Amino acid sequence: MQNLNLDAYWMPFTANREFRKSPRIFTRAEGAYFYTDDGRKVFDGLSGLWCTGAGHNRPEIAAAVHDQLRTLDYAPAFQYGHPAVFELAERVGRLMPEGLDRVFFTNSGSEAADTSLKIARAYWRLKGRAEKTRLIGRDKGYHGVNFGGMHVGGIAPNRMLFGDGPTTDHIPHTLLPQNAFSRGMPPHGIELANALEAVIARHDASTIAAVIVEPFSGSAGVIVPPPGYLQRLREICIRHDILLIFDEVISGLGRSGAKTGAEAFGVIPDMINVAKQLTNGAIPLGAVAVRTDIFETFMAVSSPDYLLEFPHGYTYSGHPVACAAAHAALDILEKDGLIQRVHEMAPYFEDAVHSLKGEPHVTDIRNFGFAAGLTLAHHPGEPARRPWEVAMRCYQRGFYVRYGGDTIQLGLPFITERQEIDALIDALRASLRFD
Ligand SMILES: Cc1ncc(COP(=O)(O)O)c(C=O)c1O
Repeated sequence: MQNLNLDAYWMPFTANREFRKSPRIFTRAEGAYFYTDDGRKVFDGLSGLWCTGAGHNRPEIAAAVHDQLRTLDYAPAFQYGHPAVFELAERVGRLMPEGLDRVFFTNSGSEAADTSLKIARAYWRLKGRAEKTRLIGRDKGYHGVNFGGMHVGGIAPNRMLFGDGPTTDHIPHTLLPQNAFSRGMPPHGIELANALEAVIARHDASTIAAVIVEPFSGSAGVIVPPPGYLQRLREICIRHDILLIFDEVISGLGRSGAKTGAEAFGVIPDMINVAKQLTNGAIPLGAVAVRTDIFETFMAVSSPDYLLEFPHGYTYSGHPVACAAAHAALDILEKDGLIQRVHEMAPYFEDAVHSLKGEPHVTDIRNFGFAAGLTLAHHPGEPARRPWEVAMRCYQRGFYVRYGGDTIQLGLPFITERQEIDALIDALRASLRFD
């Protein structure tokens, strides 16, 4: 786009200097494709940023947003309500594992992360255990960019510029060389869950509020846990009175081929965070689903009932327009059977992506549901360079994939057809063979 001035906009999580040299501008989207300012059609191999599973520009969502904007464009989130937000809370609760049926709305996954961590700390304080404040994350975990989520996150470059935050510690990730090229859940590493016992021994359970993990790590390049690992984390948390939070901003609402990663992996945490797919990416919205009795602990405070139980929330928590988009997006997931579709198509995707084993530079491939990650051998001293090069070659071929760290990440739209999977994998193969 020749007349577009790129100077003023400071782009998030973007190499701004590189982008200005070779801008990549989308002007339109439809279904599983973006259209660029230079007239190209680009397959969306990451569902936007893991959020537009039902495909872009769904007319049902546009109509719902339009209707809502003309009916109730905004309602104060504090002290007043509107119907769609109560209905959505109930609906989100129904999608969660049994018992996680009280729902707090945020505008993003980052806010969902920090909200869940604050709920955990406040919960223990209300229980008379105010010293339970430490938050435990996992190496390579990603929980957004706000102060809590950033500090429980385990991707080092995301933290190093920003100084101190809440007291945290981390358990190891489950990316093991002996699991390389595993399909779905890898065989090795259940014992890594025991590292949580060591962390607890180091700090004492009386100081720990919560453990937060993604069921599978998304942003670190789709790191899938071995069978039994999440169950073991669950058991250890129960044994030591520590809340377990699943950050399902990527794994939730279809990407795992199930309603949640909790369902896919058969483990029920105490809280689940979702965002992204909740509105199919159309309007920002996040949510924290909480165990009923955690919510009831807040409601049981002895203060007068006109006083707040939880002084937390956002101007746009449960925004009417976001709720309208979410209702329409969840209608689509149901009506089009998209979660089942991911479940059924996942083996085809798995075969396709693992056919890249043996291609130049590919040192590992991992997958779960409609998510996959490839690790690429480093250029000497430059771990992030090759994925960028490969992603740019894919883009030139008409395929958008994510590059992050030493990985390429795929997050297919739930509507993807087999021939589109084949074409995406062919483009990746050609881009890997380039040098
Ligand atoms: C697991 C997880 N948590 C939190 C976030 C942050 O979400 P947002 O970018 O909407 O703040 C992400 C984003 O990718 C995520 O993958």
